[in-house]
Amino acid sequence: MARASKIIVPGDKSITHRGLLLAALSRGQSRIDGALASLDTRSTARVLRAVGVEITPLRAGTVRVTGRTRFRSPGRALNCGNSGTTARLGLGLLAAHPIRAVLTGDRSLRRRPMRRVTEPLERMGAHFEPALADRLPISVRGGRLESIRWELPVSSAQLKSALLLAGLAGDVAVAVREPAGRSRDHTERMLRALGYPIAERDGWIELAAGGPVPPFELRVPGDPSSAAFLVGAALIGAAGAITVDRVGMNPTRTGFLDVARRMGGRIAVDVTGEELGEPVGMIGAEPGPLRRTVVGPAEIPGLIDEIPMLAVLAARADGESRFEEVGELRVKESDRLGLLAANLRALGYEADAFANTLRVRGRDHPPRGRVRTDGDHRLAMAFSVLGAVPGARVSVDDRDCVAVSFPGFFDLLRQVRARR
Ligand code: S3P
Repeated sequence: MARASKIIVPGDKSITHRGLLLAALSRGQSRIDGALASLDTRSTARVLRAVGVEITPLRAGTVRVTGRTRFRSPGRALNCGNSGTTARLGLGLLAAHPIRAVLTGDRSLRRRPMRRVTEPLERMGAHFEPALADRLPISVRGGRLESIRWELPVSSAQLKSALLLAGLAGDVAVAVREPAGRSRDHTERMLRALGYPIAERDGWIELAAGGPVPPFELRVPGDPSSAAFLVGAALIGAAGAITVDRVGMNPTRTGFLDVARRMGGRIAVDVTGEELGEPVGMIGAEPGPLRRTVVGPAEIPGLIDEIPMLAVLAARADGESRFEEVGELRVKESDRLGLLAANLRALGYEADAFANTLRVRGRDHPPRGRVRTDGDHRLAMAFSVLGAVPGARVSVDDRDCVAVSFPGFFDLLRQVRARR
């Protein structure tokens, strides 16, 4: 591989959320190194502090969390900001505590579906107002829970984790099954590493009632979803060759690398270690020609957050690519499916989103135009990468929203672009 810029990306967002939420339940002090300090993970810390959990300031570096087995009633509404993970996993955790709390969020989060979480939690014994609530703000009154065996309507790590956390906090058994493809399994891995028995059979993930959470130490690996934007920049020649060190290599998160490689992307990976059950390693990537691909339904959960970047790779590839069964993208931080197609068209590509399929025809031209993000961090980053190819003139309407998951993104992009 050519001489590469070496970079590291901020800590994994999903693992940071889970580290904070699990530590919040433990009797004693836990320590999290390398936590992501972004708007989303701050939302989780803010919500937990409001119910009585002590958390040192969330900055890059070490965070200490002193949990409590009984949360206290918050004085005001819990604001989850832009973070779906805070809201859904938070509902699961609060469902097991005998308190009343109101959860709310920003304009984007208030339009995202919640019934997929409130319905099974109601079955377990939690109360919501309104009943079977589907949109924030939602009032939750938790208490004693019963065990549940539940088939999820969509493969979703947020939903799966909300139920597992409810079972953990309520000390009752939970079994869940996903319909197609396996979503990220960080919760399962962390629980196993903490000594909880989790069985897997016939697609069912089963957590037995397992008693209190022990305090723990966690070192958070770099976020592979953040790395994907810089790897993508290298692949399409918006940057020179790069290597990303100390990044998470959990196989339920690396679907992006598999698809990019199938498109001809020059990628090398090396798994070098493990942290609390999570594989960690390095990724190398360099520019080269890309070809079309089809991404099928079973692959989607393993690359759900990387579709914006993969759509940008498809726009720079030879031929027409398709992403099938990506309807969930309509209820992400924005209508990501509609906006991906509309923005690609605005930049001179042939692209459309019919029903649940995204279609993108690649073209080798300097993209020019204006991108509308609706405040969606991943759209802002993917299109900023596309806007960094030679000759491009792309303006992105909201760059600040990258702070949701990847503070420092533009500095890193500038750094790797300079080595083009
Ligand atoms: C996440 C799960 C995914 C993902 C989100 C983070 C998590 O959402 O899109 O960015 O940490 O569990 P879904 O579970 O809704 O697919």
